[in-house]
Amino acid sequence: MTKQELVDLIQDMSLEEKVNQMLQVVSSFYSEETVITGPMKESGFTKENIAMAGSAIGALGAEKIKKMQSDFIKQQPHHIPLLFMLDVINGFRTVFPIPLGQGATFEPELSCRLAEVAAKEAAVSGVHVTFAPMVDLVRDARWGRVMEATGEDPYLNCCFSKAMVKGFQGEDIKEPYRVAACVKHFAGYGAPTGGRDYNTVELSEHTIREFYLPSYKAGIDAGAAMVMTSFNTIDGIPATGNKWLMKKILREEMGFEGVLISDWAAIEEMIYHGYCSDRKEAAIEAAEAGVDIDMMSGIYSEHLIHLVREQIIDEKLVDEMVYRILELKNKLGLFENPYKDADEQKEKELILCKEHRELAREAARKSFVLLKNDGVLPLKKEQKTAYIGPYVDNRNLLGAWSFIGQPEDVTTLKEAAIKWHEANNTVYCQGCAVLGNDIKLEGFTEQTEEEISKELEQKMLQEAIQAAAKSELVVMALGEHRLQSGEATSNANIQIPKVQMELFEKVCEVNENVVVILFSGRPLDIREISHKAKAVLEVWMPGTEGANAIMDVLSGEYNPSGKLPMSFPYCVGQVPVYYNEYSTGRPYVEGKNKDRFRSKYLDIPNNPLYPFGYGLSYTRFSVSLVKLSKDTMKPKEKIEASVMVKNEGAVFGTETVQLYIKDVAASVVRPLKELKNFKKISLNPGQSEEVCFTITEEDLQFLTQKGKWESEAGKFVVYIGTDSTTENSSSFILND
Ligand code: GLC
Repeated sequence: MTKQELVDLIQDMSLEEKVNQMLQVVSSFYSEETVITGPMKESGFTKENIAMAGSAIGALGAEKIKKMQSDFIKQQPHHIPLLFMLDVINGFRTVFPIPLGQGATFEPELSCRLAEVAAKEAAVSGVHVTFAPMVDLVRDARWGRVMEATGEDPYLNCCFSKAMVKGFQGEDIKEPYRVAACVKHFAGYGAPTGGRDYNTVELSEHTIREFYLPSYKAGIDAGAAMVMTSFNTIDGIPATGNKWLMKKILREEMGFEGVLISDWAAIEEMIYHGYCSDRKEAAIEAAEAGVDIDMMSGIYSEHLIHLVREQIIDEKLVDEMVYRILELKNKLGLFENPYKDADEQKEKELILCKEHRELAREAARKSFVLLKNDGVLPLKKEQKTAYIGPYVDNRNLLGAWSFIGQPEDVTTLKEAAIKWHEANNTVYCQGCAVLGNDIKLEGFTEQTEEEISKELEQKMLQEAIQAAAKSELVVMALGEHRLQSGEATSNANIQIPKVQMELFEKVCEVNENVVVILFSGRPLDIREISHKAKAVLEVWMPGTEGANAIMDVLSGEYNPSGKLPMSFPYCVGQVPVYYNEYSTGRPYVEGKNKDRFRSKYLDIPNNPLYPFGYGLSYTRFSVSLVKLSKDTMKPKEKIEASVMVKNEGAVFGTETVQLYIKDVAASVVRPLKELKNFKKISLNPGQSEEVCFTITEEDLQFLTQKGKWESEAGKFVVYIGTDSTTENSSSFILND
């Protein structure tokens, strides 16, 4: 349809029809099967609401969606099709590593490919819009949704935000196998006080602009069709009704012209925030903030018609909002083809196909971070090995937002290991449950874990200890339950379940050669594990092909290359901990404890256990001193920064060379370091390669005291290394 035809259509629609275009309901109103991802309440929706809704959430399956769409269009007064939306976060049926694991690849272009495949599987299953990418910057491992993010660094998050939007949408969402992307959660949702989900967010305007907003802007600049409001307040005003955030920042400054959707019931939740006195006021605040689609609260359908008739809300505002929704349907080509790519045959061909599984395995391998290795990895076939832990024979390797993925699609670590090891020198024991009897995950629809009797618990433990005692090496597969991270899963204690720590301690008592494979949706407090294990491999929630990928790494077939996108704290007391912090007026220098009046703890170090950008390899890379093409620069000029990188070891490997910049003195204090670029290079043993970066004035810009994004003359230090602690540096002066 042309723009004029859309305008004419809106003119021809009744007010009821227009307002109900702004309603999104769960698809169960149109079919029995749907995925519920928020608090259900008794439905306040009328038959008219349902019959004229603009979009549905939670449906999947070509046949089902085609039937729903066909029935819906027949009765819709202008035969306007539904938009079908779903959370396709890290894969559809072929499940990829959680986004935090994707961040660890430092390979945004890989995530672009993953999003492309996810879009393809979702599109042939009838999905039009995905509620992804989630691009919230995260610094607090207590918050369970860090698993959905790509980490603590604005630059890295911008790279992934752009790549994922491009992967989902391509150049034109009307094209086959493309879905519209939705950048979320706008804004600052990743900084809840106390790491407690949905809690108050206290960020200065400077901080939210400098650290949190860039990744949303990157996704919007990449063409994201939709943005989702966040549950939290900003400066005491809920994002969903926050005009500064939604009008000034999102629409005016970022120039976003797409659809703004509320998060689940977030319009109604402005009442519980204490911002609106009732549903009518909530309707006014959300409409005036420009929220186009009301996800599941029903408030727009209930009040907007009267508000327009009472001339409290201008009908022109409703027309603008409805225009954006119809424009999105038009961009998807739904007026010409309301079924878009839904195709039962293609579903059978594409979903979980070999290529998609291979891509999932590649992504999982690249997402793993080798945190420690005292020479015990890669494994040796001839070694008598025991695999022990609740993740040895476990198919639940999919992240919390992978409800479309099915455990039966997943190979277990035991199945993968059996294919590699000699049968006669390897044993496999569960050892204990994932959660144990003292952790109850309340309120989840899916069953988390069978209760294990004390007798059985003891029997499993003894069996594991005996297996460990008789083996030369133990591979322990431990970690969080998949549902211990994700939405509404904040934890004050960020260690693995106690029952697993007990198993780990007992095994370490009888065997000193322990390798830990750590499954988690977040950085954990792994001091004990790191101290006692000879090797630790962080595998996040690795997805459908995760176990095969783990064996690729344990066997040495693939040399691990992942780097931490989020610091691993020394302990939860250190949280939030992040590399790009400010110096303070009394910076602490490690080892100078006698220097009392310094910004430090009495009982723990300042440094995280493992820092941002850190990750080991089976080989060793050396990095030469930083070379700069000159030591002064004018704003219009550039500086080349380079190092020589050499593979000093005996195996092929990939290193991520990272470039950080420090602005030594500025009108607003600057972080100790800021990631400004990175390059992955792969080298054979003994091979060297020069890695060059170009530094421009744009790399030096920040939000100055004048509130402008600009650079300021002065001294800059350039660091180039293999993680954020590198001191390998050189400096230059930026002149006016
Ligand atoms: C949830 C999440 C959001 C998700 C939405 C729809 O509450 O906050 O990320 O996209 O509801 O499932």
